[in-house]
Amino acid sequence: MSGPQTRPPSLVLPPFLPVLPTRLTAPEPGWAETTDVCVVGSGVAGLTTALYLRESGLHVTVVTKETVNDGSTRWAQGGIAAVLDPLDTPEAHAADTMVAGVELCDPDAVDVLVREGPARVRELIRFGTRFDRHPDGSLMLTREGGHRANRIVHAGGDATGLEVQRALREAVRKDPWIRLIEHALVVDLLRSADGAVCGVTLHVLDEGSPDGVGAVLARAVVLATGGLGQMYAVTTNPPVSTGDGLAAALRAGAVAADVEFVQFHPTALYLGADSTSGQQPLVSEALRGEGAWLLDGDGKRFMLDQHELAELAPRDVVAKAITRVMMSEGRNHVWLDARHLGAATLQQRFPTIVASCRAAGIDPATDLIPVAPAAHYASGGVWTDLYGRTSVPGLYACGEVACTGVHGANRLASNSLLEGLVFARRIASAIAGHLPPQADPVTDDDTVVGLVDEGVREQLPAVMTHGAGVLRSAVSLEDTGARLTELAGAAGVPGTASWEATNLLTVASVTVAAAYARTETRGSHWREDYPDTDPQWRGHIITRLGPAGEVTASWSPVRQAGVD
Ligand code: SIN
Repeated sequence: MSGPQTRPPSLVLPPFLPVLPTRLTAPEPGWAETTDVCVVGSGVAGLTTALYLRESGLHVTVVTKETVNDGSTRWAQGGIAAVLDPLDTPEAHAADTMVAGVELCDPDAVDVLVREGPARVRELIRFGTRFDRHPDGSLMLTREGGHRANRIVHAGGDATGLEVQRALREAVRKDPWIRLIEHALVVDLLRSADGAVCGVTLHVLDEGSPDGVGAVLARAVVLATGGLGQMYAVTTNPPVSTGDGLAAALRAGAVAADVEFVQFHPTALYLGADSTSGQQPLVSEALRGEGAWLLDGDGKRFMLDQHELAELAPRDVVAKAITRVMMSEGRNHVWLDARHLGAATLQQRFPTIVASCRAAGIDPATDLIPVAPAAHYASGGVWTDLYGRTSVPGLYACGEVACTGVHGANRLASNSLLEGLVFARRIASAIAGHLPPQADPVTDDDTVVGLVDEGVREQLPAVMTHGAGVLRSAVSLEDTGARLTELAGAAGVPGTASWEATNLLTVASVTVAAAYARTETRGSHWREDYPDTDPQWRGHIITRLGPAGEVTASWSPVRQAGVD
């Protein structure tokens, strides 16, 4: 699948966007420790990177914002996509990934993903993960939106992330050469005189005050901080997903790609008008994979005339169709009908979803489930090569924080844990093959030091949801840019809430910039004023912070197969 690929005429940014700090205001580090590699984040990407690095005998420090149990991985329900059925093929998995990504996937990255994926899933089993199996011992495989084969392994029915997290946590805890620092927010990346990343500054919350800031010096840093869903009012992401890794990378001069492609999961449980903010329970696509239907207010299966795969169309197609029905009916949700699956199947296969529904007074065996789209996954992020290397030496990115090129304009279901596993192994091998001596950090006098008020954390999600959410337009994005600029005007004092607020403002600003510049509709980027996909926009918008903290954007064509 390929189309004409020409340079767009120009990238125009909104008239108002905040000027952002290139270093966060924070006390000087009061303590320091040293490691070979500092991994920031403790989901599947971070923990598997740490375990793979240990195979090379390196000392690893894992820094995580809450505990090693928290983060997005544990919330993953559906599973991990990989070619494990003898009748399935890597080419078929690649084709489904590329269709979902709407011509923006990097073919080499997708090739790496689908070919190396099965071996990484088997390694995950060796790390102790117990996937669901048939009585004969073979792995159970299911299907989700956009997949044309059953290729998704799952655990605990719909508790795949929880089981993966348990197994990796136990493996990491058994290794005395992995130092785990919990309750620690990474503030900024440290850089040496030659510009390479050589550690992080962090605030350990247990130390009680802003003076708990310290430094971990490292010969390489791997960002595995997950996503940025807290940028929106309604999200499936946990409260820790405040875009910290992407924001820190941008401040350190790294480039980001595809940040306009924020995926909205079609079916989060709708809990009523009083509960329209924060993390919402996910209703896995696997429920539709096992036969549940989407219904409008008249009880009609509206996906049947939208896509040949009906409820199992790629996620962006389903989210858009649901949004259209909600808009035309003036309702905050549509319905998911899983009653025909039966109480026993629902309880055995989807215990997490049944429990969430019951907590809301809904019995999915007898009631329709109210569902609505919610911000779910950042398909873009810190731009990397096929070994997770970013544009800044010494800095790597893995998992949701990264943009490896596998997702394009819309991630295929259950490719996210897979991406973390596959690129963790590649990053570990790249680091083991090239680890420079520890360098000393230097302070750059030209950095723009700043911080916004912690109140921005409360206000920004509504602003982003209103103007830069599922549906966007030039007018809504100009308004959002202006509102973000106003929010940036209130200076903050150092502390977790203001650091997170500044991170959210940073990732929101690049998202608005790229979403405004891309004057077409593609994948999860839906422009009301440019409803069609335009071949001239087949490429990546690259965002970065300029020396004065201004957001800049440039263009890069889609990488071609076999071309570095
Ligand atoms: C789901 O279970 O529907 C979510 C899986 C994913 O985001 O890939």
